[in-house]
Amino acid sequence: MADLAGLKTFTRRKERDTALFFQGREKILNDIAHAVTDTKENIQSGRSTTSATRLMYGAPGAGKTSLLSEIQLRAQLGAFGTLGPTVIDIDCEHLKHERHLVLIIAKHLNKEGVFRTISHEQASVGVHILNILQGSVQKGKSQDPPEATFDQLESLYSAVRTPSPILLCVDEIQTLQPEAEAMLSRLHQGKHGLPIIPIYAGLGNSLSVLMHHGVSRPVSDYIHSVGALTEEEAHAAINMMLTHFKVDQSGADRDWPAILAQRADCWPQHLHNAQRALALELIRPEVKGVLARVNPEAVFTRERRLRMQAYGWRMSEMISDHRELTARVMQRVVTYNPTRSEVKQIIAALHKRNSYPLPEEVTVDSFFNELLHQGLLQEFHEERADGTIVDVLRCPIPSLATFVMERGGVDPLLSPPERATESPKIKGRA
Ligand SMILES: Nc1ncnc2c1ncn2[C@@H]1O[C@H](COP(=O)(O)OP(=O)(O)O)[C@@H](O)[C@H]1O
Ligand SMILES: [Mg+2]
Repeated sequence: MADLAGLKTFTRRKERDTALFFQGREKILNDIAHAVTDTKENIQSGRSTTSATRLMYGAPGAGKTSLLSEIQLRAQLGAFGTLGPTVIDIDCEHLKHERHLVLIIAKHLNKEGVFRTISHEQASVGVHILNILQGSVQKGKSQDPPEATFDQLESLYSAVRTPSPILLCVDEIQTLQPEAEAMLSRLHQGKHGLPIIPIYAGLGNSLSVLMHHGVSRPVSDYIHSVGALTEEEAHAAINMMLTHFKVDQSGADRDWPAILAQRADCWPQHLHNAQRALALELIRPEVKGVLARVNPEAVFTRERRLRMQAYGWRMSEMISDHRELTARVMQRVVTYNPTRSEVKQIIAALHKRNSYPLPEEVTVDSFFNELLHQGLLQEFHEERADGTIVDVLRCPIPSLATFVMERGGVDPLLSPPERATESPKIKGRA
């Protein structure tokens, strides 16, 4: 008998909730495991941990937040070694001030019992921080509360019997404020002396945000694009759901995992909504968790509605105001897979011909960034025939490209008109 109550609860699970049926991302998770190993070696040999910053970037619904919570889960399960790392999740806004960040880290370590391994004598080294933690310094006293600094935290942490790496996870890093620059740079350069691995997740423009605000030389191997799952992974996620809720799969006349994965373009957010659409059918009294009794059209209609709604949310004011221009840019992106500068040339050319002008306050750069920010475009590393690696832009989800083109009055099946003025280099390259 299928778990109908479980399925019912699942239908209410929001698409922003982290993945219940997590699949894939092994390359990124392996990179985090390596970061932990390297940092443990640094601790043992007394070296400091530098340039360890990791970034996971991708369009809305790609699964970045789910990935951060998977890292946390795996750390708890001991996947990064018996002496696992401490995972600390903080809001982007807390990256600004040293005192604030130090206190958050210290409180977390204290809560985890990390400081219990310090002898009383040693603890006196970090007496300021412990005082604050224990609440013995209260606001309103004549004396100002002592400052909590990285130096104090470092001396406290180095007295811990078995210090382990700290994974400092920050989501929505694209919202970083310029005031955070000094802190970001300090975290990247490891100048605090602590074994911190900064792990940032954010939208498609996150790398440029980081590079503008303190992480001037990130290690390229540590920058990960998060996008669609592979077909196998998407199928596995659906299968995992069917197994988890003990759905009766006997006599089903179609390959549901393959069909739903395809409709969702293997995009995690859509996959989740496809699973919800299926669950809504499975809980109907006439269906009672039997896959063979499901009405496919009802599932497809719901799935499509949720997918279109998700796309509607991405159409910001700037994009909606320039839907024809957006559609034409997309048509060219789909055809050429252009680089960053080529996309800007395309926007500039369409704008200059005056067919799709941008108002004065919207520059080519800001329009490009909006497309990236809303996840209409995503950057991918691509190896050319001559072995060179270039960063090309694509729409990460095929059905989103179609949606954008149709919305702006462009037939998705047509190629863009050939124009000598328009990105000649792109045509030469093809
Ligand atoms: N690796 C994954 N495998 C299966 N489902 C996933 C995976 N990552 C995310 N999802 C699902 O996709 C949806 C969006 O994920 P989320 O982490 O919120 O994306 P983002 O933070 O990139 O916007 C969630 O409903 C989640 O359940
Ligand atoms: Mg998120």
